[in-house]
Amino acid sequence: MDARTSRYREIYAHWQRDPEGFWGEAARAIDWITPAAKVFDASLGLYGRWFSGGSCNTCYNALDRHVERGRAQQAALIHDSPLDGGKVTTFTYQEMLAEVKTLAAVLAEFGVTKGDRVTLYMPMVPEAVFAMLACARIGAIHSVVFGGFAAKELATRIDDAKPKVILSASCGLEPGRIVKYKPLLDDAIALARSKPKACLILQRPQEKAELFKGRDHDWVAAVAAAKKAGKTADCVPVAATDPLYILYTSGTTGIPKGVVRDIGGHMVALMWSMANLYDIKPGEVWWCASDIGWVVGHSYIVYGPLLYGATSVMYEGKPVGTPDAGAFWRVIAQHKAVALFTAPTAFRAIKKEDPKGEKIGQHDLTKFRTLFLAGERADPPTVAWAEQVLHRPVIDHWWQTETGWCICGNPVGLGALPVKHGSATVPMPGYAMHVVDESSKELPSGTVGSLVVRLPLPPAALPTLWQQDERCKESYFAEFPGYYKTADAGYIDDDGYVWVMGRTDDIINVAGHRLSTGGMEEVLASHPDVAECAVLGIADDLKGEVPCGFIVLKAGVTKPAGEVEKEVVALVREKVGPVASFKLAITVPRLPKTRSGKILRGTIKKIADHEPWTMPATIEDPKVLDEIKEALAAKNLGT
Ligand code: COA
Ligand code: AMP
Repeated sequence: MDARTSRYREIYAHWQRDPEGFWGEAARAIDWITPAAKVFDASLGLYGRWFSGGSCNTCYNALDRHVERGRAQQAALIHDSPLDGGKVTTFTYQEMLAEVKTLAAVLAEFGVTKGDRVTLYMPMVPEAVFAMLACARIGAIHSVVFGGFAAKELATRIDDAKPKVILSASCGLEPGRIVKYKPLLDDAIALARSKPKACLILQRPQEKAELFKGRDHDWVAAVAAAKKAGKTADCVPVAATDPLYILYTSGTTGIPKGVVRDIGGHMVALMWSMANLYDIKPGEVWWCASDIGWVVGHSYIVYGPLLYGATSVMYEGKPVGTPDAGAFWRVIAQHKAVALFTAPTAFRAIKKEDPKGEKIGQHDLTKFRTLFLAGERADPPTVAWAEQVLHRPVIDHWWQTETGWCICGNPVGLGALPVKHGSATVPMPGYAMHVVDESSKELPSGTVGSLVVRLPLPPAALPTLWQQDERCKESYFAEFPGYYKTADAGYIDDDGYVWVMGRTDDIINVAGHRLSTGGMEEVLASHPDVAECAVLGIADDLKGEVPCGFIVLKAGVTKPAGEVEKEVVALVREKVGPVASFKLAITVPRLPKTRSGKILRGTIKKIADHEPWTMPATIEDPKVLDEIKEALAAKNLGT
């Protein structure tokens, strides 16, 4: 790793000099039906649009062209499921194309056409990937909802996307338990105002779901019938600026934001990243251990590797407990993966169970070159540990659902730059990073402020929120005119390295999962005995952060506080889902507030995290903080 031999500075400077030339060149890696009239048209959309006038099809680029050009027999997807008895299933590009063509025909028979939305509420099974590509094939817009979300969250997303069809499965598999998806789906449809015309349900052997006549259809039977009748669907030409998918992510309220991903720019940016950021060659095996419900899974389990002609590993298991802390090394060795992309929390879990990394030696990792981490800040001790036990580069990189790919990273394909533990390294081409204060004034290097990106955003980044241009402008472009607000705080050092330190809003990051504390507060406040509440993220050795809810009971509540605490914990699990990891509710007599009535969340967090804190000058009553300390101490926290 040498800054002098890396081509990064030269490539980044090329982009700075001629952004349209740069992305126009990158776009040659894609098969276009009609090339774009303009690489970038500043007159369109909220800040301009990429590849306007171009038409193309993502499924064609991810499957058909590889089959046509010599990759038919190459593995496209390896599904490895320790949770399903260790089953490994491989699909070649040709086999996958056949599955996708047929499933696309099934969707078309349900009346799904270009521009229609299709919601997926699926576990980590190959059919979920087929479904995403089948939608792309016929120009439908998919919206994948992570399986760890509860019925109410799913209902909110159904009401916003208004899908014609929903694809789901009888169950997901978690260690020691079967998660029945179908009852959650039924509850969500009952709660939602928008009703799908049809649901296609994959019956897994572990759980047989009840199907409702008229609405629900058996996935396997529908696909088998279509195959028997020889039905297939061709790729539909779509505009490069049309949406490929909507992916909901936590905003500052309980209403999630429907991030829109366009078609052309998405392909161009992901292709560029596979070679230049991740240093992968077509035909190599790549493993992204995320979930298709998250943006990382969309981009790097499904689209990136397939567009690029690599082999993608899809893993239905955990880093530990399936069966042990050697699971990741087993998968890398067995499938000869050259790189792994996962969240730091997974490595914290492995480190906890196998601190000396002894399980690594039990597997042949000769093919393995690089570990990539993202989803939350990669804490320096975890990075150092991973480097020490793996003897390979460990690359942190920073991104968001909104951007669809990396904002700042270490471009291994261009020659890696020296790693600084705790920094996401440097901006990728397309991102002009700045650190500003509240008045958009640029801050000197080394000073923490708001991390913002000078507009326009690069290809693949969100053009808007689904049918909510105004909310998009308000959320991302209003506070710092001319810039995209990342809502992350950090600084840029003298070498141009970017350090991402935390969110500037009430989003928390729990085990790499992005969650809104505002959304959880809404649930707590709905409990009949709760007068007031505050949810904040407190430090956790394994998950980085976990939510902690402080509740004030209504006057006259006679129920023991412990009982209410249990009830609100159960309520968050029921309304938001297990993914929230909300296990800690603490009853306090009052919440600390400023004289203008603002809850002092930052001070509570510092006390809970054992960080130094000072008495806020604006506090209404300093004694309240003693009560908070006592309540935390009673739960063995904050002391
Ligand atoms: N469907 C249903 N439930 C799910 C689920 C899914 N797809 N995914 C997770 N859950 C449940 C888990 O079973 C757990 O339930 P529990 O409270 O009953 O134990 C809960 O949601 C929280 O899940 P998670 O935070 O992922 O923790 P975990 O205990 O399952 O695993 C680690 C712990 C460290 C192994 C885990 O944090 C990890 O590896 N996470 C993956 C990180 C990741 O992929 N992030 C994506 C961004 S790159
Ligand atoms: P998500 O949209 O779920 O991908 O979450 C995005 C948020 O996760 C970012 O805004 C950051 O707060 C955090 N994040 C992701 N990757 C990193 C990283 N490498 N370093 C620091 N924070 C990160």
